[in-house]
Amino acid sequence: MHSFHYRNGDLCCEGVALQSLADQYGSPLYVYSAATIRDHFLRLDASLSGLDHLICYATKANSNLAILNLLAKLGSGFDIVSAGELYRVKQAGGDPGKCTFAGVGKTRPEIEFALKEGIYCFNAESEAEVRFISNIAADLGVTAPVALRVNPNVDAHTHKYISTGKSENKFGIDFALIREAYQRAASLPNLQIRGLQMHIGSQLTSVQPFLEAVEKVAPLAADLKRDYGIEFWSIGGGIGIVYQQSLASGRPDWWSAPESGVSPLTIESYASSLLPTLRSLGLRILLEPGRFLVGNAGVLITRVVYEKRGTAKTFKIVDAGMNDLIRPALYQGHHEVVPLREPAPGAQFETVDVVGPVCESGDFFAQDRSVPPLAAGDCLALMSSGAYGFVMASNYNSRPLPAEVLVDGESAHLVRRRQEFADLIAGELIPA
Ligand code: LLP
Repeated sequence: MHSFHYRNGDLCCEGVALQSLADQYGSPLYVYSAATIRDHFLRLDASLSGLDHLICYATKANSNLAILNLLAKLGSGFDIVSAGELYRVKQAGGDPGKCTFAGVGKTRPEIEFALKEGIYCFNAESEAEVRFISNIAADLGVTAPVALRVNPNVDAHTHKYISTGKSENKFGIDFALIREAYQRAASLPNLQIRGLQMHIGSQLTSVQPFLEAVEKVAPLAADLKRDYGIEFWSIGGGIGIVYQQSLASGRPDWWSAPESGVSPLTIESYASSLLPTLRSLGLRILLEPGRFLVGNAGVLITRVVYEKRGTAKTFKIVDAGMNDLIRPALYQGHHEVVPLREPAPGAQFETVDVVGPVCESGDFFAQDRSVPPLAAGDCLALMSSGAYGFVMASNYNSRPLPAEVLVDGESAHLVRRRQEFADLIAGELIPA
């Protein structure tokens, strides 16, 4: 579900009109719906009922403290990829004991920090890393819980930058080499072999690759349980979301037709196809969803600054840039362009490029897109920007980071203030 609908002509997030937030907090502005996040977490959790499981939210998708806190209160664990994310989880009230630590390049300070905080498990991505963790644990006189990440060599059929489960990707240990890797890991001191992990990619829109990977790796998981007593198997994240959608049921999809042939993956189909195999293992199953929990829960509000009509194109120049939301530039990501004021019936659509102010031709949000009338001063929402939106924002072009607001029912909370100029130069020094 998502919680963005027109009410009396105003695009609202739950009970709050987005225009009122743009007026109060300025633009560009990220707005998130607490109800959507709760709904997605609880539905995913319920779909796995009867299975010993833990949802470890992929913190990287959106690591605002308010969102981590909301998920922590729902009982979520966290999949982290840096010491910084562990710090955030702790500040947000999350439990380090429910944290898994992924990533191919963990450093000594990060491993030490995670050991001191007592995380649930390191998901190690190479044998060198396993040896490194063992050494550090020995130095600290502790035992480190580890799982190895297996690369099952399964095609996730997603954008090449977010595909991770093929042998040519840098992630995990080759399926063909994983058993020996466990053998050697088991002989190292100061390690507890606690689990097995995999993650084949992000924004998967069909259950098939998940099923293929689970069925391929399940016999390995069973053997590792027998041989080393592992207690969990994390099957990773990757559940895709619908980026092209209608805002209100019954309303025609008037801003763009859904991509043909892309059938959205539902939570029910995901769970029901994987559950039989997972149940039979008697292991605790971890999931690491990021996008599914927060993607459709967020929008980026931006205001049209200028319109420019050329001979080839019409440009709507908005006050958000690729530095605020980089997905279109980086992955050809599609985000719906939806005006905050509902267009009048019969309004004339036109085909335009929606572009930002950054000095790069890749700075666009939509190209050759049919959009309703948008005049200078009008605000629009770039939909489904809750995942990998703000977290990937930068200060490129010395643009202050946008503010973030969390809506919960009728109330709106500022959960990150807009950066000021002073923030741009904080920490910089001019040599004497
Ligand atoms: N677990 C691991 C080990 C991961 O690397 C990732 C995402 C996840 C879980 C969560 O995947 P999700 O459920 O969100 O698909 N910036 C890109 C996505 C990068 C995903 C990186 N890894 C985008 O905007 O599409």
